[in-house]
This record gives sequence, C-alpha cells and structure tokens, in this order.
Amino acid sequence: DKGNRRHFMEKEIHEQPEVISHTLANYLDFVGGVSKPLDLPFDFAKIDRLAISACGTAYLAGLIGKYWFERYARLPVDIDVASEFRYREMPLSANDAAFFISQSGETADTLASLRYCRKAGMKIGALVNVRESTMARESDVVLPTLAGPEIGVASTKAFTCQLSVLASLAVRAGVARGTISREQEKTFVRELSEAPRYANQVLKLDHQIEKIARDLAHYKNVLYLGRDTNFPLAMEGALKLKEISYIHAEGYAAGELKHGPIALIDENMPVIVIAPHDRIFEKTVSNMQEVAARGGKIILITDSKGAALASVKTMETIVLPDVPEIISPIIYALPIQMLAYFTAVFMGTDVDQPRNLAKSVTVE
Ligand code: M6R
Repeated sequence: DKGNRRHFMEKEIHEQPEVISHTLANYLDFVGGVSKPLDLPFDFAKIDRLAISACGTAYLAGLIGKYWFERYARLPVDIDVASEFRYREMPLSANDAAFFISQSGETADTLASLRYCRKAGMKIGALVNVRESTMARESDVVLPTLAGPEIGVASTKAFTCQLSVLASLAVRAGVARGTISREQEKTFVRELSEAPRYANQVLKLDHQIEKIARDLAHYKNVLYLGRDTNFPLAMEGALKLKEISYIHAEGYAAGELKHGPIALIDENMPVIVIAPHDRIFEKTVSNMQEVAARGGKIILITDSKGAALASVKTMETIVLPDVPEIISPIIYALPIQMLAYFTAVFMGTDVDQPRNLAKSVTVE
C-alpha cells in the first residue's frame, strides 16, 4: 500500500525518519548514552581487520562504513563489491570477521562471498533487512536493519538503515578497541539519536529539490562529486539517478576531477557537489572553482556555513541543517534520493520498477 504517495519509492523516502530511529534504537541506548552490548561471535578488540562485501547500494553503505570503522575504531576494513571479492583470492584470516550487507539477504554474489569467508573460517555477520533470508540463516550473527519491507527497486530506506547500523557498530568497535572514550561514546550516541529529527527537516526541502529536478531532467549526463564519506554518497547519487531516470551519471572523488573527468565539463554538464562544511571543505571548493571556470553548472548540497563560504557561483544550492559529522552521510543521502526520484518522475519512467532491474538479484 502506497498510502497517499504516488510511488513506493516516495513513501519509502518519507519513512526514513521513523525507520532510522527504530534501527538506531536496536543498537543504542539513548537514555544511558551507550551503545548496546551485542552478542558477537568475535571481539572487536581482538580482530586485526574487518572484511565487508556487498553489491550496489549496500556496497556503497559498506564503503561509508569503512570510513567510520577506520576513523573511529582504528579498525582496517577491506571492502569490495561481492562479484570481485569472491574471485580475487585475497588473503583471509580465520581470526578476522566479515560483514555482508544486503537488503534482501539473497543477492547471489554477496551470498557466495559469505560462503567463501565462512569456508576460510571467518566469523560472519549479516546486515540484512529480511530476517528470514538465506544470509541471515548462514551467518553467525544477524545485525538487522529495521527498515520494514522495501518495495521500490531503488534502495532508499534500507540504505540509511544500513548506515545507521554501521555507524552504531563503529562506535561499539571504538569503545571495545579503546579508541572512543566513554565521553565520546555518549556524544556519538546523542548525535546519532538526532538523525531522525534532521532527516525530517530535510524532507521538507522537497519543493526546492523538485524544482531542481525539473531542470536536471533536460540533461544527458550528470557528474556527482564528494570527498571523504561524500565520495561513496556521490556514487550512490549517480547510481540512484541512472537506475530510475536512465540519465547517465558518474560519481567521483572530487580530488580525481583533474585526473580525467574534468575533460567532460561544459555548459551541458551539471555537477552535483556534496560538500558539508567539514574538514576538507576548502579542497572541494577549489574543485568547484575548476568546474565553474569551465562553464559547468553546479548544484551544491551543503549546510549554512558551506553556503556562506563556497565563494563560487552555483546554479542551485541546497542548504541542509548543520549536522554532526557522524550522521552527515545519513542526512545527505536524502536530498540525493529525492533528486533522483523527482527527476525520474519528470522523465516519466517507471520509478518503482525500472527497466532491466530486479529488486533482488539472485543470479550472478
Ligand atoms: O538486496 P541487496 O541489498 O543485496 O541488493 C543489492 C543491490 O542489488 C541493490 O542495492 C541495487 O543496487 C539497488 N537497486 C540500488 O538502488
């Protein structure tokens, strides 16, 4: 049931404040300001590395997870798309753990990677949305996302719930490994608890985003740029746009611009820059200047500080609330989903059931 929404995707985008809150509450004790103890088959303090494998949007969630585990818990993460992971003969250690991320819990390549790691003697955690799935059954521990059924082929609420689980686990790992103090844990838990409220604020920007999408629908190519956790988000934005609007899009690390994609920049190339005012904001501003100097049309997604300091002419600026660093990827995912959604609506595509795609890819 779509309720009063036009598409399941729209409904699922709007469910995010609620399901993120639900998911976080499974891992965090908001009142006590602590991450909840998990019954893990391994100890975060005793492993040397974590392997993560997934496909599509779930892979991009994992990539953001890598930034978090390495930054907050000083835990090195090896991550690959499942179709590469299972064949590239990487050295695996039975003392380490592996996480598999999947909405459906049935994706063929991810499942094969899981079995491959299990055979290597690793401890297996499954971040799945479908509790009765094959991956859930074949893992040592199920780390559920509580997004509820996701019908739209384009993953939206499952993605932000995967991020919610990964952020909570990174905090938990940091505490276990002694890289996060009790005070910091409290701060992180409070910051994460605020994500649903900020997500609600962002959903109210739908009129502005719809207007931008009306323009975007006229272009043939779109480039997304970001640094740090906004780099995987740039790839997620491009994936979302191409799969439902059929507009060709690429997501790049902003620093890679001058290593190739800058050759594509002209007045026919909108460039969506995801850049909250963070530790490397200035670097992204110089990339935007390079784009502007070549006539590229910039759509900047930032916060109020970033909007004030961007010093570059943009076609549009979407100003999000100022949010703490740890929840930034969860909040910035929303305008990106909304932009793809409205663009597809203007293009008149079958938003919930795009051509050539299946919700669950059970063949290789
Ligand atoms: O069910 P899974 O999370 O394992 O699915 C993985 C991908 O097929 C999926 O995320 C796909 O990329 C989405 N259609 C993206 O919106």
